[in-house]
Amino acid sequence: MARVLIGFMGAGKTTVGQLLSDQLYDMDAILEDRIGMPIKDFFEQKGEPAFRQLETDLLKELLALGEVWISPGGGVVLNPANRALLRGHDLIFLEADFETVYDRISQDKDNKRPLFLKNSKEDFKAIFDSRQVLYQELATMTVSVADKSPGEIAELIRTGLNA
Ligand code: S3P
Repeated sequence: MARVLIGFMGAGKTTVGQLLSDQLYDMDAILEDRIGMPIKDFFEQKGEPAFRQLETDLLKELLALGEVWISPGGGVVLNPANRALLRGHDLIFLEADFETVYDRISQDKDNKRPLFLKNSKEDFKAIFDSRQVLYQELATMTVSVADKSPGEIAELIRTGLNA
């Protein structure tokens, strides 16, 4: 069974995941390596559906590896086929409020998210809202990230998994 961190962009999936495993499979990083360009450029050149297909292929590949830690992009839950693949694994939802993730994403100079760049704040909030139910219905564990350090979040997850 894999352990997968789910949640919206900016919730801290990669940061927390790296504390939980030094062999974290960070899907966005692997995909950027494979496509040879930032995800933002790939969205512009090939379109979002092409990205989603690569994401699904990689998800399948990683879930077949067994007991691994995976940090997917926040949009992995959009495709029902991905949700079907994810069910049965440990799915840890890093729950964050919109203003927190919006601030973090706005300030992230190294990772320019295409959906952030091309949407107004209002439309981005609508994307956020529509995703929450997907994360909630998949999650086998939910950790609210508000007012917690990545270390504290990782510790809560470790404790929860050992309970
Ligand atoms: C996306 C999230 C991003 C990345 C891509 C699309 C999304 O990953 O996969 O920009 O649709 O939520 P993070 O959640 O790691 O930012």
